[in-house]
Amino acid sequence: MREMAVPVRLASASSSLSLLLLVLLPLLASACDRCVHHSKAAYYASSLTLAGGSCGYGAEAASMGGGFLAAASPALYRAGVGCGACFQVRCKDRKLCAAAGARVVVTDRARTNRTDLVLSSPAFAAMARPGMAARLAKRRTVDVEYKRVPCEYKHRNLSVRVEEKSRAPSELTIRFLYQGGQTDIVAVDVAQVGSSNWKFMTRDYGPAWSTSQAPPGPLQLRVVVTGGYDGKWVWADREVLPRRWRAGEVYDTGVQIADIAQEGCFPCDTHEWE
Ligand SMILES: *[C@@H]1O[C@H](CO)[C@@H](O)[C@H](O)[C@H]1NC(C)=O
Ligand SMILES: *[C@@H]1O[C@H](CO)[C@@H](O)[C@H](O)[C@H]1NC(C)=O
Repeated sequence: MREMAVPVRLASASSSLSLLLLVLLPLLASACDRCVHHSKAAYYASSLTLAGGSCGYGAEAASMGGGFLAAASPALYRAGVGCGACFQVRCKDRKLCAAAGARVVVTDRARTNRTDLVLSSPAFAAMARPGMAARLAKRRTVDVEYKRVPCEYKHRNLSVRVEEKSRAPSELTIRFLYQGGQTDIVAVDVAQVGSSNWKFMTRDYGPAWSTSQAPPGPLQLRVVVTGGYDGKWVWADREVLPRRWRAGEVYDTGVQIADIAQEGCFPCDTHEWE
């Protein structure tokens, strides 16, 4: 949709330059996986707030994003769909802040409109140049630029935690953990291992999906991830949940998601921030 806006606005101009733009802009705008946004960032004095955040990661939050957690504004949080997304964020004051910034993972919804991101205090401090963290912390709110980046979980596969409210065999709610890459999970199906009788799950909230018609275990999963303009199936077609799955347990899907979404934006910053 955003691609269409450009030609429409330029249609009244007739110079060869605008014709060139007509051809080029949609191409450039469709090719970006690193849209840079400008905003402010604040921080929480306590990391407990974010670990216990609205995304419901609970104890597992500590092992996501190296403990660099963030709460996201409504636009980034997207009613929970933005849970688990990773961002690279750096503050614009080059005297205080390093160019690489900090990589954070969204675990919570920000209760404010004034900043796009509220960081955990370790993440906020990680934006600082060596020796500048204390001075940076005194600022409380700073101007930042940030971009979505792929999440990297080198030593972990995509995993699911069976939520406490699940009741075997049919009431099943799972929460996705350690989702790599830069995509959204938009559909989830579950089936008994070896069966092609897939049951769809519905998004419960954020990274949690549920069904009241789960087949008897052992269970396999498949999910659809969107790469911005298109989607694809990711199959965990082996036993993910055992025959006697248990609430509270975390199970490894045996797959890693590494796809990267393309967003529509211009200009695009594909350079590594180092
Ligand atoms: C954000 O701003 C809008 C409009 O200014 C307001 O209606 C909304 O309640 C605000 N949300 C939060 C979380 O402060
Ligand atoms: C991820 O899954 C593969 C099987 O697909 C397995 O061999 C590997 O040990 C798993 N990695 C981790 C870190 O559990």
